Amino acid sequence: MRVDELWLTDFRSYPEAHARFAPGVTAVLGSNGQGKTNLVEAVAFLATTGSFRGAPTDALVRAGAETAVVRARADREGRELLVEAELAVAGRTRIQVNRQRLGRSKDLLGAIRVTVFSPDDLELVKGGPSERRRYLDDLLVAIHPRNDKVRTDVDKVLRQRNALLRQAGGRVSPDVAATLDVWDSRLAAAGDALGNERRRLVEQMAGGLSRSYQTVAGTPVSIDARYDPAWLSDGLATALVAARDDDIRRGVTTVGPHRDEIDLRIDGLPARTHASQGEQRSLAFALRMVGHTLVTGAVGVPPVLILDDVFSELDPYRSRALLDAIPTAQTILTTAGELPAGVTPDVVLTITDGRLASS
Ligand SMILES: Nc1ncnc2c1ncn2[C@@H]1O[C@H](COP(=O)(O)OP(=O)(O)OP(=O)(O)O)[C@@H](O)[C@H]1O
Ligand SMILES: [Mg+2]
Repeated sequence: MRVDELWLTDFRSYPEAHARFAPGVTAVLGSNGQGKTNLVEAVAFLATTGSFRGAPTDALVRAGAETAVVRARADREGRELLVEAELAVAGRTRIQVNRQRLGRSKDLLGAIRVTVFSPDDLELVKGGPSERRRYLDDLLVAIHPRNDKVRTDVDKVLRQRNALLRQAGGRVSPDVAATLDVWDSRLAAAGDALGNERRRLVEQMAGGLSRSYQTVAGTPVSIDARYDPAWLSDGLATALVAARDDDIRRGVTTVGPHRDEIDLRIDGLPARTHASQGEQRSLAFALRMVGHTLVTGAVGVPPVLILDDVFSELDPYRSRALLDAIPTAQTILTTAGELPAGVTPDVVLTITDGRLASS
């Protein structure tokens, strides 16, 4: 898996840009605010059809423009892949692969895979449960694109069920009850599927977490990750029946995969509330490392590794250790400072005055 070339039109800060990436390591250098993250965000967009910074599509279109284009020439196990995404401030993202228009932009998932490390990853540990759910669900989609449908099914049915509960205003007519039965069975099917996938994934990552943590933190600790919501053992259908009165009173779905937490512990203590900032950061990177390794194992080739500004967070020794500890093919890294000793890029891209040049 490799992205060889990238063309941007009106994407973020770039009116036009063209970049050629090395099959090995490409370094993107430039001062703060020059557009380093924008560049790798474009690459990652083609993998996920979204921004890894969580920005809405209209923020990705250059201010003042109506549409942006991200185009890449990639290599998938020896086969050339031309991918083009047209993003609109208003309207859907349109995607072409090898000049064929895709029916739905989500059909692109799986064509290109990336693993992104960024300073925002701290939120995986420090932030609320939704950050951790998104981490798991993104990994599930990277492992198998069909998991995207499971996730969107859950979201869709939840929206419909919650709308109905809100409208009902605490009273349940036979009609409302009958409709709730329909939503419940759909939500249970999708929710059980998602819950089981998440649980399996967390079980798979458990072993690698302590090792990865030691790589980036340098200290041996035991890391526990647990995803085991109470509803999952008997299935969501049972839990929805039990919660129905409560849901009707509150006008919202109170149980299910949208409420779950992934419990992360460092030496037995909850990481979100007890760990230091440095420990939280190391654990966040460990989660990314384990995710990258799992996706590599499942897919057979490593995703494109994007290291956005992580060298400001890790000392040179640990940066090197991170790269040595995970399977890598192509790596694109950005930094506003010096490259750590021992990291020797094959291609250096420099951004000055917002413009990209190879050097
Ligand atoms: N939609 C947009 N239109 C125009 N400019 C934008 C848009 N989105 C972001 N920018 C500009 O892009 C710049 C930020 O780019 P980016 O985040 O890539 O910087 P960076 O090189 O990664 O900096 P740092 O080293 O601080 O992380 C900002 O100046 C911002 O105003
Ligand atoms: Mg940046």
